[in-house]
Amino acid sequence: MRLDKLLAHMGYGSRKEVKTFIRKGYVLLNGEAVFDDDIKVDEENDEIILLDQSVEYQKQIYLLLNKPKGYVSATYDTKEPTVLDLIEETQKGLFPVGRLDKDTTGLLLITNDGKLAHELLSPKHHVAKTYELTFTGEFKNSFVNQFKEGIVLEDGYICKPALFTLIEPQRGKITIFEGKFHQIKRMMLALGMEVTSLRRISFGDLELPKDLAEGEYRPLTKEEIEHLKA
Ligand code: URA
Repeated sequence: MRLDKLLAHMGYGSRKEVKTFIRKGYVLLNGEAVFDDDIKVDEENDEIILLDQSVEYQKQIYLLLNKPKGYVSATYDTKEPTVLDLIEETQKGLFPVGRLDKDTTGLLLITNDGKLAHELLSPKHHVAKTYELTFTGEFKNSFVNQFKEGIVLEDGYICKPALFTLIEPQRGKITIFEGKFHQIKRMMLALGMEVTSLRRISFGDLELPKDLAEGEYRPLTKEEIEHLKA
């Protein structure tokens, strides 16, 4: 496989960006700097290092995106930009694991591993998702227990226990272990409050990296992938 194709496939940047990395000598192939972006590599056996980081080729792609507002969590949409428009990726078959609303920001996993996505989203596995939110309306201390006991949504659905921590009078943190449509907004509405901003800061063991700007993404590390699979 061509070196630039491999690096782009693995999510290290667009084809153009990774070509620049190679031409600047950021990539070591079996210990030697290479400057030739179309050089062919043996993806199974060659040692590839990009800026001190070992690049392990994987057919399956796992990217952690910091989703900005204004993008829908879909692979295709006739009207709106999708989260995949943010991924400069040559690999086909990528999709977001679950959904964040168009106006929600934060951690969204993008992969082509259908089996893992299915397991992470399965209600059986209760993957924890933590969000930071701002809201209008009065927060009463008794709400913390109501979240623990299970909020009843407007359609009668009883939510699984959730954890709410108030950070400031109109700002909090909430962890849920399921993923119903507009769940956080609906839970807050059920208690007479309205969400004004929502950002996912963790998904299972994965945390939104502080240095990842909105719209940016990075590949998961080998350890992060193993953890998710476990
Ligand atoms: N809950 C919501 O209401 N919106 C999201 O995007 C995620 C969780």
